[in-house]
Amino acid sequence: MQETKKKQQPEPDRRVVKIFDTTLRDGEQSPGMSMNLREKIEMARQLERMGVDIIEAGFAISSPGDFESVRTISGAVKGCVVASLARASVQDIDRAWEAVKDAKNPRIHIFLATSQLHMEYKLKMKPDEVYEQAVAMTRHAKGYTSDVEFSAEDATRSDMDFLARVCEGVIAAGATTVNLPDTVGYTTPEENYRFFIDIREKAPSLDKITISTHCHNDLGLGVANTLAAVQAGVNQVECTVNGIGERAGNAAMEEIVMALHVRKDEYGAETNIDTTEITRASNLLTSITGVKVQPNKAIVGENAFAHEAGIHQHGVMQKAETYEIMTPESVGLKTNSLVLGKHSGKHAFGERVKSLGYDLTKAELAEAFDKFKILADKKKSVYDKDIEAIVAKEAVQVPKTFTLKKFTATNGSDIDAEAEVTLIGGGRAITGTGKGSGPIYAAFQAIDMAIGRDIPLDDFQLGAVTEGEDAQGDATVIVASGSGARYSGRGLSTDIVEASIRAYINAINKMYYAEKTQVESLS
Ligand code: KIV
Ligand code: ZN
Repeated sequence: MQETKKKQQPEPDRRVVKIFDTTLRDGEQSPGMSMNLREKIEMARQLERMGVDIIEAGFAISSPGDFESVRTISGAVKGCVVASLARASVQDIDRAWEAVKDAKNPRIHIFLATSQLHMEYKLKMKPDEVYEQAVAMTRHAKGYTSDVEFSAEDATRSDMDFLARVCEGVIAAGATTVNLPDTVGYTTPEENYRFFIDIREKAPSLDKITISTHCHNDLGLGVANTLAAVQAGVNQVECTVNGIGERAGNAAMEEIVMALHVRKDEYGAETNIDTTEITRASNLLTSITGVKVQPNKAIVGENAFAHEAGIHQHGVMQKAETYEIMTPESVGLKTNSLVLGKHSGKHAFGERVKSLGYDLTKAELAEAFDKFKILADKKKSVYDKDIEAIVAKEAVQVPKTFTLKKFTATNGSDIDAEAEVTLIGGGRAITGTGKGSGPIYAAFQAIDMAIGRDIPLDDFQLGAVTEGEDAQGDATVIVASGSGARYSGRGLSTDIVEASIRAYINAINKMYYAEKTQVESLS
């Protein structure tokens, strides 16, 4: 949907650390983070636009849905390497190759555990068997592509001599990247630093290929451990947008990138990431999954650049550097500027959308413009954030099984709330009524009645896009299907009941789309 920025050419003396993004694999497999095919493609395009070097698009053999998304992303993304994960088995590797083979730059990413604990209890294999399998499967993958990554799962808890033997073996068999993950988030920065220094000494061939780190965040040390590994010489880091991932998540990409950027003096290493795309990537992921980051989250949290204390505000006004180590603009955070009003035309709207970095199709632009007009009629001031909220939502729409025609909701201090909602579904109007303790709940009941299905509500959050009395309400709803899969929907309106209804319908539409295409979520 959007244009890709040209990658910067590294200057000769620049140390560049590659960013391997696994938002769509390690991130997506964590509960509540599932995405449908369209959402994954949109996310992949954003990763490409921001300059990620490698996108891990999924785990091809894990489900038909995952296979399809790896295959589609491989065709859609041209500016990065596209990888599929595979266990160290012929079947997995063949399936991974089938999914990535049409990518401009395909990678097969094989993993096999090397710690005694994993080998004995999970794999039930002897170290020699693990070694043989790692080498044989790397060779097998190498028959398909020159770009093969081998990950020694639970590397940081592995015996160093054995790990070094595996590293040398897979490199001799053709691995071009060796990743040594802290799978359970157990290591510490000092230990991870020593770990990489030691392993480079014990397995000197590592210095001829790409060495990678992959840190989980169970002790809240994922980013710190990653940066320590950079200091110890790794040249690839594996991470996710907003730090999503298994359990406490993976190391957060935006934090690693900005730490390397802001503290170039300390790390002497940079990335190819266009840092001004960070906020958009974070917002897109939030809008897809419905999971917001904590307000005080570094780099992308709501408060990351807010100076509340008067003394800080004063300092920043005198000289920004007093309390600001990076500018909001450097991470693509837009000031809340007034942009358009209700008399603005489609051309001006289109230009504004473009300048925000979105390249919508004609149909998407027309739909976004209609929404903008409705909003501009209701709201005095339309800000960039309002437009981004409309456009980001437009970008990840699924086919609409149901659309909202009209609704009424009544409420009062002494009466039960009642709602009547009419939807268009299957080409006809369907109406339902509901009662409840509040108008939003009553409206959800009415929708359930209209579609003839009891939809379990998993989560509901209400916020505002901007500040001010006429701000748009921003509702996020997560619904659960019978199989336990969860689907999020977002709705915007200056009326919070309408925003909630729209969010609920969007979530239901995603559920119907997944059921129809059988791209079930994994959560
Ligand atoms: O955490 C881990 O070890 C992994 C591997 C599959 C790379 O995600
Ligand atoms: Zn992982």
